[in-house]
Parts: sequence; structure tokens; C-alpha cells
Amino acid sequence: MKKLLCLIISIMMLIGLVGCGQSKDNTQANGENAAQSDGGEKKVIVMGTNAEFPPFEYREGDEVLGFDVEIAKKVAEKLGMELQIEDMMFDGLIPALQAGKIDFIAAGMSVTEERKQNVDFSNGYYEASQVIIVTKDNDTIKGPEDLKNKKIGVQLGTTGDTEAQNIEGAEVVQFNAGFAAIMDLQNGKVDAVVLDSEPAKNFAAQNDQIKILDVELTQEEYAIAVKKGNTELVDAINSVLEEMKNSGEYDELVKKYFTAE
Ligand code: ARG
Repeated sequence: MKKLLCLIISIMMLIGLVGCGQSKDNTQANGENAAQSDGGEKKVIVMGTNAEFPPFEYREGDEVLGFDVEIAKKVAEKLGMELQIEDMMFDGLIPALQAGKIDFIAAGMSVTEERKQNVDFSNGYYEASQVIIVTKDNDTIKGPEDLKNKKIGVQLGTTGDTEAQNIEGAEVVQFNAGFAAIMDLQNGKVDAVVLDSEPAKNFAAQNDQIKILDVELTQEEYAIAVKKGNTELVDAINSVLEEMKNSGEYDELVKKYFTAE
């Protein structure tokens, strides 16, 4: 009886092991597929982003443009590859990277301890913070302490989302885009929006009914994420960032995209 049980368990373990082996192989194969050859000539490298985040990434017609796109183009250029951009939900980016559907994430993504468990980050390329946006006529919300028990709009899966969840008694309303949160703020459906500083400035510059409070809720750093263990790509990205800083190209980009300063 014992022997039989042993045998059954061994067989189950064997199946389990084989199963794991296979799934591992698949992920690796998928990882290579993301950077595949495009009809023979140049190989394609795929950037994943969420183009709802001006000036880092936004849509103009069919095109995705922005600060992050320019950096990504440099990375592709350095590798002699053609850049392809996949625009998707922000909270789908890390799963897509892990599944090998994209090669890197350039999406104003802040480095966090939690994300570091699942992806590898390049060196930081931009310092940012979370800010509070309210309507111009609002004189009751003056800082984070006034957000208690309030309805707060955020973009799903962002650090602003996490930050808002930590506010006592707050009801957090998650949107697929920061812009949608701002719309609901204007319509009085939420009391405040917590968003990254640069996109907040961008939205405020185009909307005279909203204002940004003069408090920074967090200190964050944006970096480009690659699949865990992809040191080759992360090294290439880091050298591109370094080169762009040394050559003055980085400052040019800042001037081009952050004119609101
Ligand atoms: N910096 C924030 C975060 O990492 C928000 C990024 C949102 N980016 C975007 N492309 N929608 O969570």
C-alpha cells in the first residue's frame, strides 16, 4: 500500500516537473518572439506603454508621441532595431512584459519595491511626485489631510492609486486614464484627483477649471522596465540614457516637452 502511494506521488511529481519545464520554455520562447524579425530586414523591438500620460506618452491621431517615445527610439537605434509601440492599459504592462509580449516598458513608470519583484529597472531618468488636483472653486481641500473620507480619482494601478488607497476613509475611484479622472472631477463626481506632477501640469494647462495643490505627496523616479534577468537590454538602455545626458540630448528633450515649467 505504502509503495503504491509512493509511486503515485512520484508520478505526480514527475508530471508536475515536466509541466513546469514546459511552461518555462514557453515563456522564454515568447520572450524571444517579442523582439522578432519583421519580414526579413530590421529586427523589431517592442515598447509597451499607456499613451494617456502627456508629455511622456500621448496619442496624436494614430501615432504615439512623447518624451518616453524619444528615449525608446534612441534605444532601438542603438540596437539597430525597429521600434514598435504597443499601447495598452497601464495595469497590463507588467503582465505583458512577463509574458514576453513586449520587450520593455517606457510609461513614466515609477520604481517601487513591489514592481522590482517582477521586473528589472534601468537607471532612473526622471524625478516626479504625486500631486492633488481639485477644481478651482474648491477651498476646502488644501492638502493631503483634507482628503480623508473624500472621493478620490486615480489611474488604475498607478502609484497615485496606491497613495490614495492609504488615505483614511477615502473612496478611491479608479479610471483607465488620468484624463477621465479629471473629467469626473470637473463633473463633480470625485472631490480630488491624485496624479503624477507632469501630466497634472499638462492637464491643468488645458483646463482653466482645475488647479494643482502646492504639495508633493511622494518622491518617485521613472525608469524603464525590462523582463527580469534581461541584463543585456537594461545595459543598453542605461548606456543610451547616459549618452543622452552627456550629449545634451536629454536636456533638449526636457526643453521640448516640458515647456510649461
Ligand atoms: N508614475 C506612475 C506609476 O508608475 C504613473 C504612471 C502612469 N503612466 C502611464 N503611461 N499612464 O504608477
